[in-house]
Amino acid sequence: MIPSNALIAAHQYLAPALQRARCVLDATAGNGNDTLFLCQQTPPECRVFAFDIQLAAIQGASGRIAQHGYGDKVCWIHDDHATLAEHVTMPLDAAMFNLGYLPGQDHCLTTTPDSLERALKDLLERLAPGGRITVVAYPGHAPGRAEIEFLEEWLPQCPQSRFVVSRLTFINQKNNPAILYMIGETRRKPHENASANQGQGIGGTPGYPDAG
Ligand SMILES: C[S@@+](CC[C@H](N)C(=O)[O-])C[C@H]1O[C@@H](n2cnc3c(N)ncnc32)[C@H](O)[C@@H]1O
Repeated sequence: MIPSNALIAAHQYLAPALQRARCVLDATAGNGNDTLFLCQQTPPECRVFAFDIQLAAIQGASGRIAQHGYGDKVCWIHDDHATLAEHVTMPLDAAMFNLGYLPGQDHCLTTTPDSLERALKDLLERLAPGGRITVVAYPGHAPGRAEIEFLEEWLPQCPQSRFVVSRLTFINQKNNPAILYMIGETRRKPHENASANQGQGIGGTPGYPDAG
């Protein structure tokens, strides 16, 4: 399927990293749509960590996830994702950020560049071989533009020897469409065959050497 927005593209990008995942993260649980996606796409034994600073979001999302039968799979954390290092010690196979605020809720309860930076720094240290991170950012409001400014400055500094970092923008869409940032860790997973991986970086992206 051709992805028509950043959220769909984020799911498509993460999917290959989820098939054998052992631990994944939804850094902004909100209504739980992304948490549900992570629950559905990962093996039963995989642990899903889900953060949100709003208790009401955690309560709503956890109820929804339980209704879908994944109640035991998710560890809910009512805290800033900047504290992820205090809560998650396992290597992470995938992590998602859907930035901004919850539609219909208080717009002041929005993500910030400072928390995002702390979380990304700790995440890069915890990312498993072949792990993937997505960040969906919104240029249609001022806090979102500040986050994009931060990401555009910070992400290019991720070492090319270990990460493939890219950006997807929908350039013919109106009303400030969301932007997707993707970070892929390029070491091989233990189960991956060396020859099968030759000539391809993460996500089948040609042109990036395998860091080995
Ligand atoms: C755009 S919504 C996320 C939507 C969600 N992924 C979904 O599928 O419904 C952004 C969420 O991030 C939460 N949030 C804002 N700042 C945060 C922070 N520093 N740490 C964790 N969550 C945060 C907000 O409360 C809000 O629920």
